Amino acid sequence: MSTFKAPRGTYDLIPPVSATYLAVREAIAAPLRRSGYGYVETPGFENVELFARGVGESTDIVTKEMYTLTTKGGDQLALRPEGTASVLRAALEANLHKAGSLPVKLWYSGSYYRYERPQKGRYRHFSQVGAEAIGAEDPALDAELILLAHDAYRSLGLRNFRILLNSLGDSECRPVYRAALQEFLRGLDLDEDTRSRIEINPLRVLDDKRDAVQKQLTGVPLLRDHLCDACRAYHAEVRELISAQGVTFEDDPKLVRGLDYYTRTTFEFVHDGLGSQSAVGGGGRYDGLSEMIGGPALPSVGWALGVDRTVLALEAEGIALDLPEATSVFAVPLGEEARKILFGVVAELRAAGIATDFAYGGKGLKAAMKAANRSGARYAIVAGERDFAEGVVQLKDMESGEQTPVPLDKVVPTLRTKLA
Ligand code: HAM
Repeated sequence: MSTFKAPRGTYDLIPPVSATYLAVREAIAAPLRRSGYGYVETPGFENVELFARGVGESTDIVTKEMYTLTTKGGDQLALRPEGTASVLRAALEANLHKAGSLPVKLWYSGSYYRYERPQKGRYRHFSQVGAEAIGAEDPALDAELILLAHDAYRSLGLRNFRILLNSLGDSECRPVYRAALQEFLRGLDLDEDTRSRIEINPLRVLDDKRDAVQKQLTGVPLLRDHLCDACRAYHAEVRELISAQGVTFEDDPKLVRGLDYYTRTTFEFVHDGLGSQSAVGGGGRYDGLSEMIGGPALPSVGWALGVDRTVLALEAEGIALDLPEATSVFAVPLGEEARKILFGVVAELRAAGIATDFAYGGKGLKAAMKAANRSGARYAIVAGERDFAEGVVQLKDMESGEQTPVPLDKVVPTLRTKLA
């Protein structure tokens, strides 16, 4: 062990578990790639103001959880706590909304940083795969995204997740509702912090996890009953489109997300095997965000799925992904001369697209065969000077133990056929 450890709230991805993370990212990306989403990558840090304005000055993410820094040049930056504001910023900066037809559909995968109290499923460095569809107001687009996340989880074999769905209204109906909610909340017996939240961000009080608060919320006005006609019709169509695909969801009229930019459709994917950090993914519509960061009106919708929590969900359901072995062939040279020749054979196999590894470090036969075993390789090729003198290598089937000589110029085609 070295003097150093991974910082609190972080952990390293190391083999063999790291392969599962790669597979999860790939499984989430696959339905997006099939649906017209293009890959986007943005910097790991942004101007702090982007998140303050985009995510919301009064959110926990901005007030408590951002990793901020001042550069030597005096710039105020923040490690990105989420992807939506950055992706929209990038799309606007590149004028993607003017370049082609709308919506602009983008997907991304990367590291995010939040200074949260670490616990199982909650880390200070975590990984998301996300999707954003920018510049279109169409219930089918909201439905598409929800269905694609559903497909991603199902393709991993997950079953014990649920979709929670809500509408947060728009700039017409939300202010009216907000005032009604504030009036109700002001009449309750709440602590100082919560009372000030009523004035700044009353919807967040609905999300309060404490029993003492939840008990007082019986009869609280719900946005569901205050939606304007346009929002009501929009939400009805989203629900209808999802249901028509045989995908079930639960209406959760108290679902409030931790970011301020949401309008209309909001949703969360929760997994029942994860304890308190049960949200494996979430998202929704953010019709006003573009204007909030200085862009034109661009109604948009998106989500981000947490890779760390998705891996925990797989563990909770006892699902081991069917991952191909990293190495198909392991080459074991016997002696110095054989080492040089076999090293060339390894390069040939690799060039032919066959995943091949080599016994390095001048190991004896026993240790080298142990390494071959550990690599998971299906075949070993073993060769010494005598084999090369005869123009062959010994091909060993690691499952049956059977060993057969194969002419040097037939090694690649033979293995290609056997591994097909
Ligand atoms: P979010 O709900 O803050 O949404 O994060 C999405 C997912 O990231 C969560 O459901 C969770 O799985 C994972 N996650 C968040 N924080 C942590 C953490 N501290 N440790 C481990 N996993 C975490 C967003 O970030 C929005 N940008 C989603 C979105 C995209 N909305 C519209 N477009």
